[in-house]
Amino acid sequence: MQKLIIKGKRELSGKISISGSKNATLPILAASILANYVQINNIPLVKDIFTMVELLNFIGLKTKINRKNHYIKISNNEKNINTLAPYKLVKTMRAGVLVLGSLLTKYGKAKVSLPGGCAIGTRPVNLHLFALKKLGAKIKIKDGYIIAQAKNGLKGAKIKFPSISVGATENALLAAFKAKGKTILKNCAIEPEIKDLIKFLKKLGANIYLEGRTISISESKTKSFKIIHDVIFDRIELGTYMIASAILAKKSLIIDKIDPKIIKSELNILKKIGVQIKQKKNSIIINRARKFKKINIITKPYPGFPTDLQAQLMVLLTQANGESRIKEDIFENRFMHVPELKRMGAQIEIKDKTAIIKGPTKLTGAEVMATDLRASVSLVLAGLIADNRTIINRIYHLDRGYEYLENKLKNCKAKIKRV
Ligand code: EPZ
Repeated sequence: MQKLIIKGKRELSGKISISGSKNATLPILAASILANYVQINNIPLVKDIFTMVELLNFIGLKTKINRKNHYIKISNNEKNINTLAPYKLVKTMRAGVLVLGSLLTKYGKAKVSLPGGCAIGTRPVNLHLFALKKLGAKIKIKDGYIIAQAKNGLKGAKIKFPSISVGATENALLAAFKAKGKTILKNCAIEPEIKDLIKFLKKLGANIYLEGRTISISESKTKSFKIIHDVIFDRIELGTYMIASAILAKKSLIIDKIDPKIIKSELNILKKIGVQIKQKKNSIIINRARKFKKINIITKPYPGFPTDLQAQLMVLLTQANGESRIKEDIFENRFMHVPELKRMGAQIEIKDKTAIIKGPTKLTGAEVMATDLRASVSLVLAGLIADNRTIINRIYHLDRGYEYLENKLKNCKAKIKRV
């Protein structure tokens, strides 16, 4: 098992370039089942992407990844298509469930493993199935698999999600792509990653309109020529490095290959805490701040504060003056990083779904354990701030979603190495 060893309190300087978004690439890879021939650029070379590509190969698509230039070519010659997403591939990468919508709408059937839970929660898919049934799918759960049929194809419908779900919105969009007539989806998630999926589906020939939280999509004809798409930048990776820079920049740090307009709400919250941010067209400059103000946050669907930045923000708030509160309102169990941070000296109490963080506290290095993707990176942030040495175990969690993490930090003078 690999580990990361970090020597803390190094001042950072230089530039960090942000990779393509994992959470935009995953649904777009699932959508490539609907196409004949696509090239997806700016993909992050992270474990979850390779797992999804393995799933596309299993289904029968031809894929070719160019690691050097971060793109993938995918062709679907419609021969020997296997409408099955097996447990071994879906269990480690829940987004595998997104092939359900594409397979069902294009081939009229799909057998997809239930993704099962993960460290942050039970991660049900009832909202996905709710939408597919509304589109006319016959759904059965058997031996841990979702068995979906739509013999005469799917039929457009009016669907109002009882609660906001990124994955369910994406699966419904993919399923509606070839559904007869028009589909109206209400109370949708509208994360930038979903807008990127919509942009991709439009290139595939979809007629999609997004207004507020309502997405309407009418029957589309897949265009047969080659589709090229550049995936948007990863706003969660950006938020992570903004927090690192705010605390540790020697003077300032440049973060580029981004569009600051997309993360207005996160930028506003960090500015309120005292992070000094200068915005440019495709980059931001973060100046080191001397002190940070406490704040109370509740994680919300976009454009609210993202749950995927909750653990990272918590580390910043250990350095803020006074008592801050973060309420985790999206997932039922997303505070696994708290006991590990407390072992490094953080003063955090959990009451109901709220973390109460007292600051500023001195953090000291320790041997800690990663539990999920975003919790792991909060331990990296804490290790960068803490005195002496931090050892992070189980860093395979990190490799699922952060591209070149230690290299990007080493290039900014951090003392971090993988063993
Ligand atoms: C996506 O997960 C992201 N993953 C998550 O990022 C992110 O944390 C989450 O959205 C929220 O923004 C990808 O995009 C691949 P949801 P998803 O459906 O789609 C409940 C990361 O670190 N729910 O919006 O699974 C669910 O349990 C990952 O990159 C149901 O009850 O999230 C949760 O409490 C972690 N029934 C809430 O809704 C359903 O059918 C929001 O989940 C679906 C979800």
